[in-house]
Formats: sequence, C-alpha cells, structure tokens
Amino acid sequence: MKGKIAVLLSGRGSNFRALYKATKKGKIPGEIVLVITDKKEAPGAVSAKEYGIETLYFRRKDYPDKASFDLAMAEEIKKRDVELVCLAGYMRVLSPEFVRKFRGRIMNIHPALLPCFPGLHAQKQAIEYGVKFSGATVHFVDEGVDSGPIIIQAVVPVMQNDTEEILADRILKEEHKIYPEAVRLFLQEKLEIKGRRVFIKK
Ligand code: GRF
Repeated sequence: MKGKIAVLLSGRGSNFRALYKATKKGKIPGEIVLVITDKKEAPGAVSAKEYGIETLYFRRKDYPDKASFDLAMAEEIKKRDVELVCLAGYMRVLSPEFVRKFRGRIMNIHPALLPCFPGLHAQKQAIEYGVKFSGATVHFVDEGVDSGPIIIQAVVPVMQNDTEEILADRILKEEHKIYPEAVRLFLQEKLEIKGRRVFIKK
C-alpha cells in the first residue's frame, strides 16, 4: 500500500509540484491525498485541484486562535490516515499541539543550511551575512522555528552578484531534488531519529 501524504502550503507550490511529480513517476512510494492551504488563491492550491487532489482551504478568521485552527487541520489529516505531513511553503509556525500529534511525521524544507538563517528571507540573510555557500535543508518539524532534526542538506554557492531572487532560484533547484528524496526515505522507513540526529538506514 502506498504511503499517504498531506501537504500544507501557502503560496507558489513549486515544492508541492516536485513532490507530486515524484509520486507520479514512482520515485516516491506514496500518494498525496490531501492539500491544505491557508491562502485561498495560492497557486499551489490551484495546481492541487488541477491534479485532482482533495484540497481544503482553512480561513484564519474562522478560528479564534492558532491552536484551534491547527486542531481542525489535524482532524482532517487524521481522518485520512496520513503517514507524513509535508510543509511546502506553509507560512505559519505550527502550534505545539499540532507538532505533538504528528511528532516525527512532519517535514519542512528551508532555503538555507540550517541552523544558519532560520525564519523569513533566508536567502537575503545569507547574502547579507556574506557566506560563500548556502543551500537547502529538509528537516523534521519540532516546536521551534526551522529547528528540528536535519534529514538532508544540499549546498549551493553564493556568487558575488547574487540578488535574493537569483540565489533563491539556484537553491530552489536543489530543493526540488532533496525534498522528494527525503520523503522517499521516510516512506521506505529508512529514517531513524535519535535525539537531534537523523540516521539513514542502508
Ligand atoms: C521555498 O523556498 C521553501 O524552501 C520555503 O518556502 C519556499 C516555498 O516555495 N519554505 P514553493 O511554494 O514550494 O515554490
């Protein structure tokens, strides 16, 4: 049986599309059964509907606080027996309650080599700091911001003339490779979390 995946997104959705394509090509032994968005017009949500994937829109103002918003999302995810929740440009920090419900089963992708440059505008942070290399990180999600155990990283050079957009594009190409790879490893039960470290079984 194929592993069921839920994707949470707020925007463009290029990582979601990379994951979707990997499932369709058989590179990931799983299927995206649910997409949840907090932005109704998110291009990622539009793609999900085009692909025929069940897509739910959760409107922030329908919930008094983040915990109840996240609880409602968690219930929908649980109903569908989802094995893995993938954040793909989901722009809200998950509540600790949500993280506890799916601990070790939520992944995120971040456009920097964590623990450097967490949070927003990671590419701009990297350029302004002056690092010569940055990259992308797929990690499990814990209660912090971009702080959970690291699964895979890809290194990308930072060039002298890079703008935030140019560096973001260079990093994005790597994101689209390592996110499907991390999901594949998870669904093949090859990932083992020991404290902060993630071991990849042979
Ligand atoms: C990516 O750069 C990802 O690393 C970050 O948000 C961006 C989402 O892009 N978390 P997309 O919506 O997947 O195209």
